[in-house]
Amino acid sequence: MRFDVFTLFPEMFPAYLNESILKRAQNANLLDVHLHNIRDWTTDKHNVTDDEVYGGGGGMVMKPEPIFAAVEDVVGAPPDGPVILLTPQGRVFTQEVAGELAKHSRLALLCGRYEGVDERVRQHLVTDEISVGDYVLTGGELAAMILIDAVTRLLPGVLGDPDAPQKDSHSAGLLEHPHYTRPPEFRVWEVPQVLRSGNHAEIKKWRRLQALKRTAERRPELLEGMELTDEEREWLDGFHNDHH
Ligand code: ADE
Repeated sequence: MRFDVFTLFPEMFPAYLNESILKRAQNANLLDVHLHNIRDWTTDKHNVTDDEVYGGGGGMVMKPEPIFAAVEDVVGAPPDGPVILLTPQGRVFTQEVAGELAKHSRLALLCGRYEGVDERVRQHLVTDEISVGDYVLTGGELAAMILIDAVTRLLPGVLGDPDAPQKDSHSAGLLEHPHYTRPPEFRVWEVPQVLRSGNHAEIKKWRRLQALKRTAERRPELLEGMELTDEEREWLDGFHNDHH
């Protein structure tokens, strides 16, 4: 997967991208991140990338010319693959969206700053807009790194365990069950007996029950419309009775 990132702050990226799994993915040629400084496509003496907002009210907006020039130069016109603007006005990023984006071989990410980008960029250059959540960051860079991270770990070969992404929280529509490691007893807190029993059928059942319980407690809206067995419905009714 190739990412072309367009930003005014390319230096923000390497510390995060060049560690751990993302570093391994790059070394294995599964991930290729190209950082492009939008400022390099300015043509004026002072390399200006932003300007005052039309209509008054204050605030600065990123100018269209260097953004169009940068993206068209690197990604082509028409672009080779989606051009994604990171903005709090975009569709909300979820595990499902990550899975959808992971099917592409190339993605261009445009990081906005200030009040945002000139509307003509949004209308005539960008093909998708994504928000990482209903809060406002100082720019799209962190959002771009979140997207790169979540998409990359879904690419075949990036995680050691090929089934790992299917086990994650959210991928089955549920939050994941709790995890424990050694020691079996820490202070007065023991690892649940079932996990030490070696009974894989019971462990599987316990994990499913815990995932449902956790989801019911923390994110009940995720359970709406989910297909569950009669037994699982009974468990859920049981949790409700425990609560009220
Ligand atoms: N830029 C500023 N806030 C953002 C958000 N929540 N998601 C994506 N890009 C952003």
